[in-house]
Amino acid sequence: MKKVQQHYDEIADVYDERYDGRRGRYYHGHIRDHVMRNLPKGGFLLDVGCGTGLFVQRYVEEGGRAVGLDVSQGMVRHGRGRCPDCGFCVGTADALPFVDGSFDALASLLAFSYIPDPEAALRECYRVLAPGGRIAVCTLSRTVFTSIVPLVYRISERIGLRGVGMGDFDEHYYTNAEMARLFRDAGFEDVTISRCSFAHLTLVEPIFTLARKVEPFIEKRLPYLAYNVCASGKKPEN
Ligand SMILES: C[S@@+](CC[C@H](N)C(=O)[O-])C[C@H]1O[C@@H](n2cnc3c(N)ncnc32)[C@H](O)[C@@H]1O
Repeated sequence: MKKVQQHYDEIADVYDERYDGRRGRYYHGHIRDHVMRNLPKGGFLLDVGCGTGLFVQRYVEEGGRAVGLDVSQGMVRHGRGRCPDCGFCVGTADALPFVDGSFDALASLLAFSYIPDPEAALRECYRVLAPGGRIAVCTLSRTVFTSIVPLVYRISERIGLRGVGMGDFDEHYYTNAEMARLFRDAGFEDVTISRCSFAHLTLVEPIFTLARKVEPFIEKRLPYLAYNVCASGKKPEN
């Protein structure tokens, strides 16, 4: 965990550049759309692993209120800059500093794979959600493409290549079945699992444009080729 925190502290000042260009904006926007679709609008949201507040901003733009939590002080600082009227705090997903039933909605984008104890994190998410509250998590999925990423990152680290998210962080690439089991074991009902993202921001043109065109087809018909898995659920009413 210390290593992930250090990494994001170090790259916090350049993190947003990753999602600034045409491909980055599309890639992250597409993930935000997927997550937003599974949450109530206009509620009170906690974003776990909020980074620089990209989803916090989106939730607020749709009429809600939001709090972001992240293990990296540097990322939280940028979140505060982006959304000065929202609450941000430094903390870890498996020990959320909020009282039971505080939130109507809980989101986590591209952060869950880093969490060393996903069961504990989901127990905490469940605890801080109000009865009837909804959770949506989008994270790295296990696919034919992503199975070699940890090895690539390990090699990059050895030869000193640096970049956002590049490193050997012991991150976990989830299958649909793993996410469904974790959500159900945590007590969530109405659990749905989908895949998103085929047009990855690292693809070069014209492959990116082509991937974007076929993305809806991939997500629907060949979902095991999409890069991220999105899980959603609901805390029972009582
Ligand atoms: C790839 S970034 C995603 C940030 C943001 N959610 C987004 O979509 O832009 C991953 C974030 O997860 C945070 N993170 C990693 N492990 C965490 C943990 N155990 N608890 C809270 N945040 C964590 C990192 O500090 C980093 O800001």
